[in-house]
Amino acid sequence: MSKVVQLHDLFFEPYISHFDLQQRIKELGNEISHDYANNRLYLLVVLSGAYRFAADLSGALQLETEIGFIKLHSYSGTSSTGVIHAQLPPSEDLKDKHVLIIEDVVDTGNTLEYLMGLEVLKAAKSVKIASLLFKPDAYKKDYPIHYQGFEIPDHFVVGYGLDYNGLGRNLNDLFQLK
Ligand code: IMP
Ligand code: MG
Repeated sequence: MSKVVQLHDLFFEPYISHFDLQQRIKELGNEISHDYANNRLYLLVVLSGAYRFAADLSGALQLETEIGFIKLHSYSGTSSTGVIHAQLPPSEDLKDKHVLIIEDVVDTGNTLEYLMGLEVLKAAKSVKIASLLFKPDAYKKDYPIHYQGFEIPDHFVVGYGLDYNGLGRNLNDLFQLK
């Protein structure tokens, strides 16, 4: 396991190892494959944070899978601004498709609420959400988080796709603010 890392002005300590992330993602992959057995699944990946989770989770699925991307962000520094910006809205027709939204972390739920309201999802056959991390103490909405990797306290974390002002996404383990 790695040591404390500095990103900009802040220090982060090891939190969840790459190995433990991979073990849990395999379990999620089996659960999702079982639930959608014999169905094709459309993964809607929320960039940028979910890119690594999506890569590993998609590889753990024993299903016919399509992948699309949407780029959203609401964070500045270590707290949510509440204002969501969208780029790259998915152009494919999601009509009659089973859609699984892939998120890195559900925090306040503002981003999830925005996603659930997207016009392009209205015609989908079903919409569920898979998030690597969930912060129940910060969550202010009621949407069910169908597939959760880890429930974590309301602490800021980086690594494995998650960033602090642009840095830290390439770290293989998950780190928390010291
Ligand atoms: P929400 O809209 O408050 O639920 O925040 C969701 C988004 O904020 C996530 O998809 C992340 O991009 C970002 N975010 C929330 N918590 C963290 C964190 O601990 N580290 C890095 N990014 C985070
Ligand atoms: Mg995100």
